Amino acid sequence: MSYWFPRLYDHLMGPLEQKKFRRIREKLIGKAKGKVLEIGSGTGINFPLYDQADQVVAIEPEPLMLKQSLNRIRQAKIPIEVIEAGGEQLPFADHVFDTVVVTLVLCTIPNPLKALQEIRRVCKVDGQILLFEHVKIDHQVLGSLQDWLTPVWKRLCDGCCLNRDTIHYIKEAGFKIHSIEKYYKGIFITIEARNQYY
Ligand SMILES: C[S@@+](CC[C@H](N)C(=O)[O-])C[C@H]1O[C@@H](n2cnc3c(N)ncnc32)[C@H](O)[C@@H]1O
Repeated sequence: MSYWFPRLYDHLMGPLEQKKFRRIREKLIGKAKGKVLEIGSGTGINFPLYDQADQVVAIEPEPLMLKQSLNRIRQAKIPIEVIEAGGEQLPFADHVFDTVVVTLVLCTIPNPLKALQEIRRVCKVDGQILLFEHVKIDHQVLGSLQDWLTPVWKRLCDGCCLNRDTIHYIKEAGFKIHSIEKYYKGIFITIEARNQYY
């Protein structure tokens, strides 16, 4: 991770978070129930929003992001623990979480399919996965623009890819998608999926 990204992240995202993302996050995180795993929790922006869950275990690989998130644990209504780990190798037993939350992370994880397969392993059968991600837009010109911008964007924003086909990965990992809501012309989406076995 670059030197500046974790230090500036909250400042850069602040206006967008307050004006746009807050209500999207509130709606999504309010659905997290039981024992929750959050992947790539960053600076802990979701932590104060959990109000239905029993407990949250979060993983975050970047120590400085993790350190900043500890402040937000104090604002949380439920017990939250953060562990330093990456999404592609989760340090948990099989089928232990009722809900897995993933927000603005699959764009950055180097191997999103591996991370989703790991999420499926640790999520209970019929458990839910709640996602808020930016994805490749279903529009020829804008989609090509995202492809074109991604190499530069990726270098500036610590591996973030503008053009990930996240829905494809979720399906490939074997999750059953129950609903998709689109925001800002479909660049941002929320997804509710279930860990159903056929
Ligand atoms: C754009 S930030 C999003 C943070 C937070 N989830 C949010 O909603 O604001 C992306 C996060 O993914 C984390 N990340 C990067 N690689 C990861 C990996 N392999 N596994 C899990 N998280 C990862 C980064 O450290 C960073 O905290």
